Amino acid sequence: MSAQLIDGKKVSTEIKKQIREDVENWVLAGNRRPFLKVLQVGNDPASTAYIRAKTRSCSEVGIDTDTAHLPDTVSARELKSVIRSFNNDDSIDGILVQLPLPSHLSSHDVIESIDHRKDVDGFHPMNVGRLSVDQPTFKSCTPAGIFELFKYYSIPTKGKHAVVVGASNIVGTPMAVMLSRENSSGKATTTICHKFTRDITIHTITADILVVAAGQPNLIKAEMVKEGVVIIDVGINRIADETSEKGYKLVGDCDFDSLKKKASWITPVPGGVGPMTVAMLMKNTLLAAKKSIYPEE
Ligand code: GUN
Repeated sequence: MSAQLIDGKKVSTEIKKQIREDVENWVLAGNRRPFLKVLQVGNDPASTAYIRAKTRSCSEVGIDTDTAHLPDTVSARELKSVIRSFNNDDSIDGILVQLPLPSHLSSHDVIESIDHRKDVDGFHPMNVGRLSVDQPTFKSCTPAGIFELFKYYSIPTKGKHAVVVGASNIVGTPMAVMLSRENSSGKATTTICHKFTRDITIHTITADILVVAAGQPNLIKAEMVKEGVVIIDVGINRIADETSEKGYKLVGDCDFDSLKKKASWITPVPGGVGPMTVAMLMKNTLLAAKKSIYPEE
């Protein structure tokens, strides 16, 4: 078997085109242009690159954006006071605090200080909780983007065995929730593997759908999966590469070359899940501007 490629770049471009139209219609109807406020603490180069991709997408779809920078020495109190000022600013629809934060800051505390009605990342406990009880919510962008890919390529999840490797708050856990809910979205039988799983192959070998978000290059190899599996590789790892101008290249968590011979569908890295995450952030920002999730009384 040779896998068909899941082209996140192409699908995200189509979705962003639709969002652009929706934004223009919203503005033509007399509304203010949606506005995303990004907050970067410190200057981690990977974070800077992610923020650049997000703000570029904003300009593609017609969403206004601005990035505020705070030094990595900022105190929790100062940071939360800045977030509070964004919460209270009616010209701001969505707030995104780029993670990870410096280690002296608690990301839980900081995320919880964001107004859940502006939490376009879908990380606030209010939005996470609503996701797990099938209430309208800002869905975490990466899992939402993966579900858009399933829809676009007509890849069914109902009744399948889905295995998620990695149990992070950003990807693995919300992905497993969305896959496993029987009322909406997934309807799959779902297994979560994490760093304490004794033998992950026992689980991955039975997967119909394998979602990998572990942050470990080459973690999943062909002998760990069955013929016809759907591979969703969320990993974005920088590994040294002298032949590249930047001195590094991006690889996922899966051994793409061997897996593509065995899988039925596979996402490349880059150009698979990554661009979908950004497209879903645009979608959430428009939902926030329209007050679609939390209507005003
Ligand atoms: N760091 C890595 N992924 C993400 C994300 O989706 N949102 C934010 N805010 N930070 C991240």
